Amino acid sequence: MKVTVAGAGFVGLVASACLAELGHQVTCIDIQKEKINMLQCGRSPIYEPGLEELLEKNLCNKQLHFTTSPHQAYSGADIIFIAVGTPENHDGSADLKYIHVVSHTIAHYIEQDVIVCTKSTVPVGTNELIQQIIESRKPPNLQVEVVANPEFLRKGSAIHDFFHGDRIVIGTNHSEAAAFMEQFYLPLKIPIMKTDIRSAEMIKYAANAFLATKISFINEMANICKNVGACIEEVAYGIGQDKRIVHHFLKAGIGYGGSCFPKDTKALIQLSGDFKQRYELLEAVINVNNRQQSLPVLKAKEIIGSLQGKKIALLGLAFKADTDDIRESAAITIIKELLEAGAVVTAYDPIAIPNARRIIGNAIEYTEEIRQALLNADLALIATDWDQIKHLPLEVYLTHMKEPIVIDGRNCYPLQEIRQYPIIYRSIGRPDLPNTNDTFE
Ligand code: UGA
Repeated sequence: MKVTVAGAGFVGLVASACLAELGHQVTCIDIQKEKINMLQCGRSPIYEPGLEELLEKNLCNKQLHFTTSPHQAYSGADIIFIAVGTPENHDGSADLKYIHVVSHTIAHYIEQDVIVCTKSTVPVGTNELIQQIIESRKPPNLQVEVVANPEFLRKGSAIHDFFHGDRIVIGTNHSEAAAFMEQFYLPLKIPIMKTDIRSAEMIKYAANAFLATKISFINEMANICKNVGACIEEVAYGIGQDKRIVHHFLKAGIGYGGSCFPKDTKALIQLSGDFKQRYELLEAVINVNNRQQSLPVLKAKEIIGSLQGKKIALLGLAFKADTDDIRESAAITIIKELLEAGAVVTAYDPIAIPNARRIIGNAIEYTEEIRQALLNADLALIATDWDQIKHLPLEVYLTHMKEPIVIDGRNCYPLQEIRQYPIIYRSIGRPDLPNTNDTFE
């Protein structure tokens, strides 16, 4: 089938590469010429494990093409996926300018009947708007059906998620379009849910709001655990055995970040407000998350007092491991707070440094060597659970730092391991170490 994907961002590129891998003839279009030039040479503009290999392979076997030409992209397409960005407006609502532009362009360039499938996260009612825009501008003899098809890909495991997702949601009020999409996705052998267009749009926001709520719930619980001397990991495991709760997404830490949860929770509050309804639970979820991101610096001040002139090693810049995305990363909040407090920061990250530098500039030092960041540091602060950090031999904190003080915002190390070293260790929702009973040789 001839498939066109509009937008060469994270969602568009993963969809393009994976649909080509499934055997479709895929054309991915973007308005950014530099990005398309790079992709035509098989280089991915974003870091996503396995993506570049899949792009290269399908470019070589000519299943995949990149273009900036709308005629080339849309004229012969059987199905068009919209995967353009929906950034945040000042008031938290979703900015639909790219959706408008792409809808107009599709209407102008299509030359045959086509299904238009929206993968971008869009507020309820947007797919009907896309249908109206295309309907009013397309050649009158052509039939176009717009289908809401939200994606549930996670950064860092998107290729796996595409082929092994929990469900595919197809939202349309048109039975033939629903049947077409069902056939299209059949080879993936993923359970397919067909629903109306507005429910499909809502499923995406509801899923992200629920997952964000789970994280703020467990973080709130972690803070109580710490106060009463319980361990959040035991508690999360214990409640997760209940099938109504499940253990996934109950990892306490310094809060969620990224381009999705922060944006989508705010957009849902805004959407709710449009109907004069306050979404109080979600407001609390966001407040808890903001507070959680500020915990590490508070803990640092508790241990060493003033941070003025202190050398801090910040381990991890990405909002989570296996991505170079630093949008809404807890690390960025932490850096701002550390700089305000007069600290001297050296940040370690294996791949997110170029993106962080664009936001933070030269106000801090950067290194791709953990040991370099830790050298002579007064305190280390872990913001991302990179494997490189999790597998660092704990002796390194003793041999490299001025004082072995570690604030672990991602609970990277088992307490029984830390206990074997004279490291002053604070984590999230777990007892402080060393405690009064610990002695070291
Ligand atoms: C999230 C959803 O998980 C995807 O299903 C969805 O498709 C995507 O948003 C989107 O809307 O496009 P993503 O933002 O890539 O995916 O990353 P997650 O793995 O969900 O992690 C989000 C944040 O929550 C990270 O900062 C992570 O460190 C944090 N987190 C996650 C926790 O603090 N605890 C957990 O138990 C899980």
